[in-house]
Amino acid sequence: MTPGIKPLVAGNWKMNGLNSSIGELETMRDQFRPELSAKIDMLVCLPFTMLGKAGDFVARSPMRIGAQDCHRELKGAHTGDISVEMIADCGATAVIVGHSERRTDHGESDEQVREKAQTVLHWGQMAIICIGETDEQRKLGSTLDVLKKQMSGSIPDSAENGEIVVAYEPIWAIGTGLTPTAKDVEEAHRFMRAELVERFGEDGNTIRLLYGGSVKPGNAKELMGINNVDGALIGGASLKAEDFLGICAAY
Ligand code: 13P
Repeated sequence: MTPGIKPLVAGNWKMNGLNSSIGELETMRDQFRPELSAKIDMLVCLPFTMLGKAGDFVARSPMRIGAQDCHRELKGAHTGDISVEMIADCGATAVIVGHSERRTDHGESDEQVREKAQTVLHWGQMAIICIGETDEQRKLGSTLDVLKKQMSGSIPDSAENGEIVVAYEPIWAIGTGLTPTAKDVEEAHRFMRAELVERFGEDGNTIRLLYGGSVKPGNAKELMGINNVDGALIGGASLKAEDFLGICAAY
């Protein structure tokens, strides 16, 4: 937690979910009652194919939906790609950029991630910029160096009309059931906060820092209670309303 920052609990459905899975979203939306929405923001980042239907679904709810990637251009000859304008057209208000799975599967560089984030922010949306070290980098003791490089390369100089959110997701903790110790998360987030303040001044203290990697209802309270952890980015446990709401209940 950071004083003055409203936490964000965000789901990332990755390449999971069909329009028939909308029932899980319905439960999340219906359970996101005023007592809870006063305490936290809730977001679920869906596959593109679900955004249209989901957008109608959350239209009159404080629950937000987002996408998991976008193109750096707003339109044009880019077969198969999806623009931020198209995402917004569905009612989504956030985009994850630079997830480690995209960096690995599609070779996305820090520079490409920054360009995408810039477009998202210019369009007035929330850009959730992901960073995190591999197991090998962790074992070499270079975690903070990796975070520093990814932050300086992937985070744009200005939030423009949107909101910058930074998600720390150690790659070795994603989908493995492993998590760093509370001390390690604290150290990483303290470092990230200091980097943001150095770069953005006082505004750096208002940027939400999420932790992601094997967050479950059972460990959410401990992880979300750590200094400078302003919410979570959740993969597997965001697919089921019961688990996702169980994590929200940590607040
Ligand atoms: P898991 O919660 O399944 O470990 O995934 C984390 C993640 O990659 C969220 O973006």
